[in-house]
Amino acid sequence: MKKECAQVVSQECLAENIYSMWLETGIAKNSRSGQFILVYPNDASRLLGRPICICRVSDDKKELRIVYRAQGEGTRSFTALKPGDSVFIEGPLGNGYDISDVKGKEVLLIGGGIGAPSLLQLAADLKRADTGRTTAVLGYRDSSLDNFLADEFKELCDDTVIATDDGSFGIRGNVIDAVKSSDIRADVIFACGPMVMLKAVASLALSQGAEAYISLEERMACGVGACLGCVVKTKETDSHSHVKNARICTEGPVFNASEVEL
Ligand SMILES: Cc1cc2nc3c(=O)[nH]c(=O)nc-3n(C[C@H](O)[C@H](O)[C@H](O)COP(=O)(O)OP(=O)(O)OC[C@H]3O[C@@H](n4cnc5c(N)ncnc54)[C@H](O)[C@@H]3O)c2cc1C
Ligand code: FES
Repeated sequence: MKKECAQVVSQECLAENIYSMWLETGIAKNSRSGQFILVYPNDASRLLGRPICICRVSDDKKELRIVYRAQGEGTRSFTALKPGDSVFIEGPLGNGYDISDVKGKEVLLIGGGIGAPSLLQLAADLKRADTGRTTAVLGYRDSSLDNFLADEFKELCDDTVIATDDGSFGIRGNVIDAVKSSDIRADVIFACGPMVMLKAVASLALSQGAEAYISLEERMACGVGACLGCVVKTKETDSHSHVKNARICTEGPVFNASEVEL
């Protein structure tokens, strides 16, 4: 893990308040799907880096892509970055998705809103892995989000199903409604999205007898394991804290859903 100055290669607005940015950085070399970086606002009054997951790594491993929602002051400041600008980033952080055991399996990716970017590099990796079939189910609030990244998932997955809360695009309802109404069955589920969605994914996995790996994108501070500001309750005792806790930034952000209390 290292902190370095990255160069902005491109920045594009994908939908209302959703931006895609490619960064040239040595950090790309060791990055993999499900890991994240801390992106530091250039304004020194905001000291903490913002955790943003690695959405894509370029084939030559020289560039990283992030897709982020401009939400608070830090992420809003990133929208002003232009090609050629510099930005400090730190990473790669966290454990990432493990796809060593997907051979021949039915794999389901479930992304809710801004959770979808976490799964795009995974979809690319799975395309090269020998899975049985890979299906993506993506949930959006409404069509104002333009189903960002949906076309890219369609290129990488065998099947991509879209759900919108208001039914303005795809299936009306949430991602779980879409899985059930499309009768999708899985051996392994990878999911990222709001906590309420991840709880429903954990129940879905239990009902299907599937393994579920969920990426928790909860509030963080230091991002590097020092402050305990990001703990999640675990079913087993953690080797670092010796209590039933794990640090999302260090032991996660990806956990087996059966190992954490949601
Ligand atoms: C592992 C991980 C991966 C993430 N990946 C993405 C992504 O790919 N795209 C994306 O749009 N968002 C992602 N998030 C959420 C993103 O980090 C927050 O939206 C962002 O930090 C908010 O910062 P801000 O400047 O907009 O808000 P502010 O309110 O200014 O933030 C204040 C402080 O709170 C922290 N904070 C606020 N909300 C969150 C949150 N939800 N998660 C973590 N820290 C938070 C900030 O890092 C900062 O330190 C991810 C979060 C985690 C933990
Ligand atoms: S954010 Fe500080 S320990 Fe995880």
